[in-house]
Amino acid sequence: MATFTLPKNSKINAKGQVHTAEGATRKRSFRIYRWDPDSGQNPRYDTFEIDLDACGPMVLDALFKIKNEIDPTLTFRRSCREGICGSCSMNMNGKNGLACTTAIEDLKGDIRITPLPHMDVVKDLVPDFTHFYAQYASIRPWLQAVTPTPSGKERLQSPEQREKLDGLYECILCACCSTACPSYWWNSDKFLGPAILLQAYRWLADSRDEMTGERLDALEDPFRLYRCHTIMNCANVCPKGLSPAKAIAEIKKMEAERHV
Ligand code: SF4
Ligand code: SF4
Ligand code: FES
Repeated sequence: MATFTLPKNSKINAKGQVHTAEGATRKRSFRIYRWDPDSGQNPRYDTFEIDLDACGPMVLDALFKIKNEIDPTLTFRRSCREGICGSCSMNMNGKNGLACTTAIEDLKGDIRITPLPHMDVVKDLVPDFTHFYAQYASIRPWLQAVTPTPSGKERLQSPEQREKLDGLYECILCACCSTACPSYWWNSDKFLGPAILLQAYRWLADSRDEMTGERLDALEDPFRLYRCHTIMNCANVCPKGLSPAKAIAEIKKMEAERHV
């Protein structure tokens, strides 16, 4: 259920630290959300000036530079550093995206970095994905079939059947879309949100899966599916260029068609 005021201990009122880059000719300032649950203090923004001539081009490069050279306690997730793992999703200057594929020069002014919106924070830029992953598990994201494989080895697809998975299989579960969706902000306890619904459609669209009816039954619910009001924030932020809104519309179409 939505809450409209922040709990006292999550208001950003603690004074942040400022780290300057003396002598740098090409400076950019990064204002970074900091919160350490063990400190007992409220969150704060720390400011780090970076010399761009001594830093890689991406936001993730700047975060590494800060962690390696200025403040080793800065905490963030990352793994692949090339837009594949989805770990480094965060909010940069008000827009969700991947730090490893967002160029510093594409962001204007002082760069403000916060964790993905409307998720509990574990520490600094690390959000708690527990609920998101539980929602993912709830859609049974694996191939379900009862008939034996025709060849005894693998289930074949025609090129046309395989093509139906394009625009779906590429999802890296970064949650940029779900945490940009106002419906998910207000109802994330019950609404599955764009990322999980796109994944749900990925299995509905798979010609090899034989649980279409059961999958549609599980989704047919005023909250799980029908809280999407086609606001389209999801498609606007997806770093892989996918359209969860389109996938959701396809699920709604499948639900409607089976009642005709
Ligand atoms: S289109 Fe639906 S899922 Fe996407 S942001 Fe809007 S309400 Fe959320
Ligand atoms: S649909 Fe896009 S934004 Fe959403 S989780 Fe998948 S890759 Fe991330
Ligand atoms: S580090 Fe893997 S997507 Fe950014």
